[in-house]
Amino acid sequence: MEFRHLGRSGLMVSEISYGNWITHGSQVEEDAAKECVKAALDEGITTFDTADVYAGTKAEEVLGRALKGVRRESLEIFTKVYWPTGPGPNDRGLSRKHITESIHGSLRRLQTDYVDLYQAHRFDHETPLEETLKTFDDLVRQGKVLYVGVSEWNAEQIAAALKIADEMGFDRLVSNQPQYSMLWRVIEAEVVPLCQKEGLGQVVWSPIAQGVLTGKYLPGQPPPAGSRATDPTGGNFISRMLSDDVLTRVQELKPIAADLGLSMAQLAVAWVLQNPNVSSAIVGATRPEQVRDNVKAAGVKLDAEVLKKIDDVLDPIVERDPAKTVSPPKRP
Ligand SMILES: NC(=O)c1ccc[n+]([C@@H]2O[C@H](COP(=O)([O-])OP(=O)(O)OC[C@H]3O[C@@H](n4cnc5c(N)ncnc54)[C@H](OP(=O)(O)O)[C@@H]3O)[C@@H](O)[C@H]2O)c1
Repeated sequence: MEFRHLGRSGLMVSEISYGNWITHGSQVEEDAAKECVKAALDEGITTFDTADVYAGTKAEEVLGRALKGVRRESLEIFTKVYWPTGPGPNDRGLSRKHITESIHGSLRRLQTDYVDLYQAHRFDHETPLEETLKTFDDLVRQGKVLYVGVSEWNAEQIAAALKIADEMGFDRLVSNQPQYSMLWRVIEAEVVPLCQKEGLGQVVWSPIAQGVLTGKYLPGQPPPAGSRATDPTGGNFISRMLSDDVLTRVQELKPIAADLGLSMAQLAVAWVLQNPNVSSAIVGATRPEQVRDNVKAAGVKLDAEVLKKIDDVLDPIVERDPAKTVSPPKRP
């Protein structure tokens, strides 16, 4: 495993991290979840990403149990707050009340005294940014959170938060967690240049496009048994990437991966890691073999000729519009 700084902070993270959205507490049984976490630890992954909302809070519980007994100092545990965790109007968003209640629930479920990174899962248009950042800063002072970051915030929102933090002396954001893959490059135009300048690192999600970039989904054919596309929850999220046009072009990446001696999943993960603003690529997995496959992307260098070949294949279907980074206009 290779390690990178989380943005300009002193924290080192494994360049490949393991995330448990869709899988833990939901798509896979607890034994499989624990085997994936064990495989991740065996392969040198030290950074684990979850969220209060995943599987209705069950994902944090599963991760807490799976990491029990592992030396806390050898782990970086990331979680998030924003999406609803209960029925009430205060069970969501980035108010002082919900953030404070949510971190306590996360710490209890994860069985830890602190999280290494606490992330605002989306921008909350209904809470003053000062209120959110002051609450985050208080959690840092209390030692419950070591670093703070955001997820899927656009450049304007990140810049506004940095300005307030600098004026008020609050702890600064060190990271953003955006979707980023060969197919989804919307952060490149605005978010990455700002973050590079300001010292935030990208902790990117769905680098394998939820499994699509493994090439296992074939155009015109039903999805393989047991894959995310067949899961009731996961199927909704992956469906927009399962058009024949996308799947046909993804198949054309196979010879490029084969020439490099890489699996398709490794090529996809290695691709996001070529961006120097990426601190870590969060991979998901339903089976330990997938973790072992994906981690081999650590340290892989792709030269300009390979990157051009990939662009030549994918160009017509790559999403680049920075306006696609959106948070709900009202709290969900
Ligand atoms: N901040 C946010 O808003 C946000 C949103 C989404 C995700 N995330 C974070 O990012 C993490 C990763 O997201 P993701 O799970 O969508 O990432 P991903 O790595 O793109 O996709 C993971 C899925 O692809 C399949 N897969 C992975 N490796 C494979 C391999 N080697 N061979 C075959 N299939 C393979 C598995 O699904 P099947 O076996 O079921 O096909 C696996 O669960 C999440 O767990 C979460 O921590 C954050």
